[in-house]
Amino acid sequence: MTRGRFILLEGCDRAGKSTQCAMLVAALKEKGHSVELCKFPDRTTTIGQMIHAYLTNAKELDDRAIHLLFSANRWEAMRSMKRKLEAGTHLIVDRYAYSGVAFSTAKGLDLTWCKNPDKGLVRPDLTLFLDLPTSEAEKRGGFGEERYEKRELQERVREVFLRLKDKEWVMIDARETVQSMHHKILKEAEEQIRVGEQDGRFAEED
Ligand code: TYD
Ligand code: MG
Repeated sequence: MTRGRFILLEGCDRAGKSTQCAMLVAALKEKGHSVELCKFPDRTTTIGQMIHAYLTNAKELDDRAIHLLFSANRWEAMRSMKRKLEAGTHLIVDRYAYSGVAFSTAKGLDLTWCKNPDKGLVRPDLTLFLDLPTSEAEKRGGFGEERYEKRELQERVREVFLRLKDKEWVMIDARETVQSMHHKILKEAEEQIRVGEQDGRFAEED
């Protein structure tokens, strides 16, 4: 049995990550793959509820404290995510540590400091970055409801994301139609799954 692939979708608010994650999960299931969706922040846990209270402005928290809670929210998911990957289930992940670093650095925290608490988390095999200019994001519904959905911050978040970007990221233009984005994302995911199956076979032969 080959290990499942960890496929991450990242991007700014309103870029369509959640829609694309749901479509990707459905398409891969349809093709017979074992696949599950993970979403960060996971608002269902105790830590997630504190994050939710912060994001909806029900609670004030120190910038570093909330940064560590977002990271802790990933750490508390590690055991279950690793088990699923080891059991051959592919994980489609809606935001992860890059979001953690991008938002907190955009608020003014030191980049290296922000990266530290996430060191050691299981790494994505594929990162798809859904890129959307802030002016476009603003036009989409829902912008402005939560704490971070403000133009100036979003602009800085995008800048940090683009600084974090490495050559392995696959950039997806989020101005394209939902279907066109889906087509590209599915193609990349299937390619990643194929590569994983090949690597698995080589590992067994060794
Ligand atoms: P979001 O994905 O927008 O959740 P939902 O789809 O439920 O609205 O995430 C909520 C906000 O949290 C978003 O503005 C990005 C921010 N965020 C961080 O600041 N740090 C993190 O580590 C993560 C995962 C998200
Ligand atoms: Mg949101």
